[in-house]
Amino acid sequence: MSARHFLTLNDLNRDELRNVINRAIELKSNLKAGKENISKPGKILCMIFEKSSTRTRVSFETAIVQLGGHGIFLSPDDSQLGRGEPLEDTARVLSKMVDCVMIRTFEHEKLMTFAEYSDIPVINGLSDSFHPCQVLADMQTYFEMCGDIQGKTVAWLGDGNNMCQSYINAARQFDFFLKIACPATHQPDGQLLAKASSHVEITDEPEQAIKGADLVVTDVWASMGQEQESEERAKVFSIYQVNSRLMSLAAKQAIFMHCLPAHRGDEVTAEVIDGPQSVVWEEAGNRLHSQKALLEFLI
Ligand code: CP
Ligand code: NVA
Repeated sequence: MSARHFLTLNDLNRDELRNVINRAIELKSNLKAGKENISKPGKILCMIFEKSSTRTRVSFETAIVQLGGHGIFLSPDDSQLGRGEPLEDTARVLSKMVDCVMIRTFEHEKLMTFAEYSDIPVINGLSDSFHPCQVLADMQTYFEMCGDIQGKTVAWLGDGNNMCQSYINAARQFDFFLKIACPATHQPDGQLLAKASSHVEITDEPEQAIKGADLVVTDVWASMGQEQESEERAKVFSIYQVNSRLMSLAAKQAIFMHCLPAHRGDEVTAEVIDGPQSVVWEEAGNRLHSQKALLEFLI
């Protein structure tokens, strides 16, 4: 049987995604109760990071160790990848040694190439186009705190980036309605939007997107690799800042999420991210549990 991968949320079907989330919730409660889940003894996860990370690195490494396995961290600086060894060759070699590979990189195509040549599961730990592991944790958080997200309304404010694009996939897979507010110059991919047209609406007015929303989400205005555009982006995105005025337009019980790291005073005010509607710490913590459930599913 060929390996299953997790490059986008579309790599698992709806039932599988829900099963992973339910298992994540179960694993979380077992861990809290002091019960071990050593379901993957001796399994090795190799983690390749071409960009910085705190949450993804620590949650994946902790997850595989808690499952009874071991994590190996590789960066381009200390592997032959940084010296030009082809991805195809690296994928074939790692397939002979480890049980799963997680990759954080720039071009999504690199992940697709790696997966094509890999006999073992490949997980997207963030690419320029998608960040499915984060949205899996976000969905777990919503289910835990508010119940099923089916039929609910989610507002995305800001850049049409990798997180936004994973929310577009999530809208279809979890059957919620996504309202995106972003500048016309920074919209998500047109083909992705067209495919999701029954579940997604796009506007350049933040008030229109956030009105009545059950979940409000944003992300940095300049993603990794776009640092040199920070100043120009801060001007373009300023009206999309999630602040108390905008939050007051969302549903009364609305919660706020951000994948982190956050820039208080830019895409979100301190009042909102540190306020009562924010669930960002639970959301970040759920990276551990949802990825543990994902590793159990894939390996
Ligand atoms: N949200 C997220 O992926 O964080 P890191 O960049 O710290 O991994
Ligand atoms: N959009 C952000 C997410 C960081 C977790 C980035 O790509 O840098």
